[in-house]
Amino acid sequence: MTNNHSVDINRLNAFAEKMVHEKKTAVGFPCNQNIKLADFYHWYAVSGLADVAMNNVGDPRKPSLFALNTHEFENEVIDFFSPLYGFSPSEAWGMVTNGGTDGNNHGIYFGVHGLSARSQIKPILYVSEEAHYSIMRLCDLQGLEMRQIPANIRGEMEVQAFEQALDPSRPALIVIAVGTTFKGGIDNQDAIDEVLARKRPVAVYRHVDAALFGGYLPFTEHADLVSHFVRKYDSIAVSGHKFFGFDEPLGLFLTTNEVLAMQNPFRVSYLNASVPTITCSRSALAPLKFWWQIHKTGVEGYRRQAELILKNALYLKEQLDEIAYPAWKNDISNTVYFQRPGDWVMKKWSLAPYEDERLGGKLAHDIVMRHEGMHMIDHFIDDLLLDRSGESDPELCS
Ligand SMILES: Cc1ncc(COP(=O)(O)O)c(C=O)c1O
Repeated sequence: MTNNHSVDINRLNAFAEKMVHEKKTAVGFPCNQNIKLADFYHWYAVSGLADVAMNNVGDPRKPSLFALNTHEFENEVIDFFSPLYGFSPSEAWGMVTNGGTDGNNHGIYFGVHGLSARSQIKPILYVSEEAHYSIMRLCDLQGLEMRQIPANIRGEMEVQAFEQALDPSRPALIVIAVGTTFKGGIDNQDAIDEVLARKRPVAVYRHVDAALFGGYLPFTEHADLVSHFVRKYDSIAVSGHKFFGFDEPLGLFLTTNEVLAMQNPFRVSYLNASVPTITCSRSALAPLKFWWQIHKTGVEGYRRQAELILKNALYLKEQLDEIAYPAWKNDISNTVYFQRPGDWVMKKWSLAPYEDERLGGKLAHDIVMRHEGMHMIDHFIDDLLLDRSGESDPELCS
């Protein structure tokens, strides 16, 4: 091989070293850095699959004309998760997505078509203003009228404001946040349902954006919050790279066969099938990794992980209280938000900024994932104390 075609391994190694170092203080974005996929990748390479182009194009629940797919494993992932989200095996339809936004895109799209099967009137999408920006982007993309509902100080939809905004003469597509991006607010589904029962819109579709909390909630005593059986929602999106811990974006989208049946069939002749998914090509690797992780971890393992992150989030909040640092944490949440520290702390700990005048203005947050244990939290608190005393990290200054 000539030099022109060689890989600069030194450059790559330096980059990898930097990433491995950075992950030790990455707490501001909800990416669980406790990834355990080295043995998967080893198997993947030696099995020969690293040299095979697989693709999960098509409906994963139906046979595919393209033989090189992992639908078999994707279905087992869906079959594992659907009862955990309160779907009966016969009613569930789902797929492994490329992330929370992809799941929300399908939820909104399926919602519009589910509603149009019941009413010709154009729907209105209702969502709290603390919901993830992907909902606004997707409304824009899908040409939908959106009503943003104010949120309370904890980041939950103001239900009274929802009632005022609700137009019962038009179908309602409600996006319910179970874990808002910044504060980890959970919309009150009982109160929203009461409003819907009272005002009776011509048709209703509920999509749950559980990208953030949907990973761990099924493994806690609060599993009802994401249960289709209990909450009667129509679809749900969950991110895989948040709680579960994957090395790239992926996620889950679950709905019912009833909702699926209301979708535009779009028969695709070259696939000899109706394809309900928005994207044609879909990752075959992501479902395989998910399947691998499920078998390595199991329900008990996920339960222990959920318990751990909630315990450590509480520990972080207690430590902040101990040093009288203005900080807040909602119930059942692994997000702690607090007064924004100095720039060097923001940078070192990869913190995300936010503003809320009701809480004194500038804020930041820490989303406690599995890689953030008590030792790391103590180190973070030390940095906040250093920052408060007007100093900065000696390592950064040197
Ligand atoms: C509440 C919420 N919904 C949706 C998303 C988007 O998910 P993804 O980044 O997996 O596309 C996020 C991302 O942080 C989120 O916090």
